[in-house]
Amino acid sequence: MSPLPCVPSAQSGKQARGLHVITWGCQMNVYDSARMTDVLRPLGYRAVDAPDDADMIILNTCHIRDRAAEKVFSELGRLRLVKEARAQAGHGTVLAVAGCVAQAEGREILARAPYVDIVLGPQTYHRLPEMVARAARAAGAVIETDFPVEQKFDFLPPEREVPAGGAAFLTIQEGCDKFCSFCVVPYTRGAEASRPVAAVLEEARRLVAHGVKEITLLGQNVNAYHGEGPDGAIWGLARLTAELADGIGVERIRYTTSHPRDMDGDLIAAHGDQPALMPFLHLPVQSGSDRVLAAMNRGHTAQEYRDLVTRLRAARPDLALSSDFIVGHPGETEDDFEQTMQLIRDVGFAQAYSFKYSPRPGTPASGAGGQVPEEVKDARLQKLQALLREQQDAFNAATVGQRVSVLFTGRGRKPGQVSGKSPYLQAVHVDGPDSLIGQVAEVDIVKLYTNSLGGVLTGETGKA
Ligand code: 5AD
Ligand code: SF4
Repeated sequence: MSPLPCVPSAQSGKQARGLHVITWGCQMNVYDSARMTDVLRPLGYRAVDAPDDADMIILNTCHIRDRAAEKVFSELGRLRLVKEARAQAGHGTVLAVAGCVAQAEGREILARAPYVDIVLGPQTYHRLPEMVARAARAAGAVIETDFPVEQKFDFLPPEREVPAGGAAFLTIQEGCDKFCSFCVVPYTRGAEASRPVAAVLEEARRLVAHGVKEITLLGQNVNAYHGEGPDGAIWGLARLTAELADGIGVERIRYTTSHPRDMDGDLIAAHGDQPALMPFLHLPVQSGSDRVLAAMNRGHTAQEYRDLVTRLRAARPDLALSSDFIVGHPGETEDDFEQTMQLIRDVGFAQAYSFKYSPRPGTPASGAGGQVPEEVKDARLQKLQALLREQQDAFNAATVGQRVSVLFTGRGRKPGQVSGKSPYLQAVHVDGPDSLIGQVAEVDIVKLYTNSLGGVLTGETGKA
């Protein structure tokens, strides 16, 4: 085994060590990677851009996508070379695999990639410092993929590095009890759990104090949020967003990902009553066929989804929708697929993600009969994506000529440009000073690009 770096104590935390985190997958993983960095900071670890400069490398993995485990092993092969080159130069490297593939395939990873030092699931990253110490002491790898009884959030440092650009993620809920036929999340992220209201408000307060204007609340089933309030009552998401806006002063609030079944009356009403809630909602429907929705165990029909959208748009007429779709779920016929196309035409989406069904070991659909041939899935995906692209282009084109508020999150691609996000999560570029970064300003949209919009500043500092 190659040498491991000695682990500095919290007291000697000034000794800088390089940390390189590779993040794959969803926004929850982006958040987790940031928090793992926070957890390791007291040990002296600081983020570095190149793995070759890193005393510790974390590969934070995602299990949703096709051939997820194979991609992990191929990346680990690359990182092994980095580790070996560093060892030859006399430097140790702790190599950790985190996230959902680690959770699902922990033992397999250690068997096939014995140069990995730490394997940790999403529920145990608060134990990283201890694992690093154990890895340094032990002559073998450390694996932590249990679902511990303690909530990791109770053990995370309150201070977190605040991202530049005025926008931040905040995880409020994790896990899922819905068990959709195709999905690994209930197995990798565990049962649904919500963070207490006070902890969420405290984290948001710190973010706002550091200039954050927009918070995206995260959870696998974020609108199933049911956190214990300071008053002992259980708060739903609508009550939480109201308090974040009015009590904490968050200017812009988003939340993702939602399940149609958990979209209750309070939350629908909140979209009309709470101006801080951005008029853009990611609400996956997956399919427009009742037969397929039932096979997927989604717990709602296509008409119930349509009705939900009608109610949401009644509350907030300018609400734009985004969704996830799967084509070729086992048993999906041409007629089922046509019903999905019809639902897309009926609802109209500003943006969407779409996937070919691919089996995940251990999920009910993976062993189901009626698997759809690959070429049929390909053809359906192409048709579906063409329609979604048409709708997305039309939605963006309709923004030209409008005045929107933009949160500027960074520099644009061209010199002298800054770029940011409209309320509908569209990328917007304007000519303007760097001082706008982290601020909200009003912009007249004048130009449509393939995946973004061009605008001019109106000179008004915007209201969210
Ligand atoms: N095959 C294809 N797509 C999947 N998704 C989740 N699991 C699978 C799978 N086995 C998609 C769903 C989900 C999104 C995050 O990924 O559409 O909403
Ligand atoms: Fe997966 Fe979402 Fe279904 Fe939960 S609700 S099982 S996270 S697709």
